[in-house]
Amino acid sequence: MLTPKNYSQDIVELSISAWFYRNRAIAGFDNPARSLYVSVRELMENSLDACEDAQVLPEVTVLLKREEEPSSTDMLSQGPETFELIVKDNGTGIPRDTIPLLLGKMLTGTKFTHKQSRGTFGLGGSLALLYGQVTTQRPIEIVTGQKGLDYGHRIKMRLDIENNTPIIIEEERLPKSESEHGTMVSFWLQGDWIRSKRRILDYFAHTAIIVPYASLFFETPDDEVIKYDRVIEVVPKPSTESKPHPRGIDVEMLKSMIASTRKRTLKSFLMGSFQRVGQTIAEEFLVSVGLQPDRVPESLEQEELVTMMNAMERYKKFLPPSGKTLSPVGTEVLQAGVQRLSPEFVIFRQRSPSVYEGHPFIIETGVAYGGQLTPGTNVIRFANRIPLLYDERSDVSYRVVRDLKLKSYGLRKEDPLTFMMHICSTKIPYKTIGKEYIADVDAVRKEIDLGFKDCLRELSKKLRSRNRAKIHRKRESRLNAYYKFTAETLSTATGREISVDRLLDSRGGTSQ
Ligand SMILES: Nc1ncnc2c1ncn2[C@@H]1O[C@H](COP(=O)(O)OP(=O)(O)O)[C@@H](O)[C@H]1O
Ligand SMILES: [Mg+2]
Repeated sequence: MLTPKNYSQDIVELSISAWFYRNRAIAGFDNPARSLYVSVRELMENSLDACEDAQVLPEVTVLLKREEEPSSTDMLSQGPETFELIVKDNGTGIPRDTIPLLLGKMLTGTKFTHKQSRGTFGLGGSLALLYGQVTTQRPIEIVTGQKGLDYGHRIKMRLDIENNTPIIIEEERLPKSESEHGTMVSFWLQGDWIRSKRRILDYFAHTAIIVPYASLFFETPDDEVIKYDRVIEVVPKPSTESKPHPRGIDVEMLKSMIASTRKRTLKSFLMGSFQRVGQTIAEEFLVSVGLQPDRVPESLEQEELVTMMNAMERYKKFLPPSGKTLSPVGTEVLQAGVQRLSPEFVIFRQRSPSVYEGHPFIIETGVAYGGQLTPGTNVIRFANRIPLLYDERSDVSYRVVRDLKLKSYGLRKEDPLTFMMHICSTKIPYKTIGKEYIADVDAVRKEIDLGFKDCLRELSKKLRSRNRAKIHRKRESRLNAYYKFTAETLSTATGREISVDRLLDSRGGTSQ
């Protein structure tokens, strides 16, 4: 007889960090080139989020240093090398006790709320640090300080991957002035600069367009300095936290909301915990699902929760989510940013708030033309003020642009045209957790399409009137040449000096 296999010996439980490390490609860490780019990007995004939270004009410094200077013989050698990455900002700073938790543990963050921010899963920066530690075996250092305190902290730590927990190796208090605030993160990682350089430089250039109120400084491993000084002193209004919309939740979320509510009736729970649900709608909705409005929320059975959630998704009378908590960039700031590309014309449109699956979003579009733009149609994409650089052809805005009939606006594919799209939302419909492209969601596609078409109509009007003015100027200069010729011929024929002005005067005289 066969003895049953003892599975308990084979069972392994992976910690969250071990799981993410094994599957790091899904967050963009698939090779040394892309990992270097994603690490720079994730840390910069954390810095910019922290500056906007503090409502200050961001100053972000990024230093990327090779471990050793390449000797002249391996100057041309390509492939992974070891780098030190240092990112410093003037943001909120991080309280001492939360540093290890926020940056030394996967899936811990302060951005899991219904609020527009660059970060989403409590993962990006933390995974970059984990990637660095695994590829170089060196510790991570964080120096941070908050406004109002006369000291900050320096912490050196390691990440214990097996247990998804940080281990502090060294720590000290640092004196500082009460007005100073910000964070500096430094760590070592493996990367491929030669193969990621273009992408990282593009990332800076595009960030400077969408965040023109930031000063960005980047020292490359080649000792080049890339600097973007701010061109406008405006920080867009902060995004605020919103309550969830009844159409954007699932059963687990509903359960945890009920578990934490203090409301004693279903009606007041709906009104207090969700956005845009008033007394009448709450009552009507509950009656339509067959639930008593004064029932105690905790008394709902699992089946009733599922029925309620399904009904919430379908119920037509809930008002659409409000876009008031979102923070679009705004025409003034975008205009300042796009001037960095030196176009001849640029047109922007901000669409009204719209909604997909219960999440509010706002689309901002822009079309730039001529000047120093490169010939051909380009699309630059931004989501919650992050430039998106990979997987362009899969992005919904690229598809919208591809389907536009440029001819009907008097334009050609070869014209120097740059399309810009910014989507802001409490939940960006990213297709992957690597945050690189926007899924083809009907409502989003429609808004982008309308935005671009609106910009193109306006652009085509501008181009027509510019062309008319050009034709007019051309005709005038041709006439002037003709009068000059006539005046010279007449002067020679009559032996008298006849100027163009005189000729025109006499022409005016005869016609009167
Ligand atoms: N430069 C910084 N300044 C202030 N807080 C930061 C900074 N970098 C990271 N944090 C905090 O650490 C958390 C985790 O960061 P991260 O792993 O990148 O995840 P996410 O940004 O998705 O929340 C953030 O939610 C934020 O609270
Ligand atoms: Mg982040």
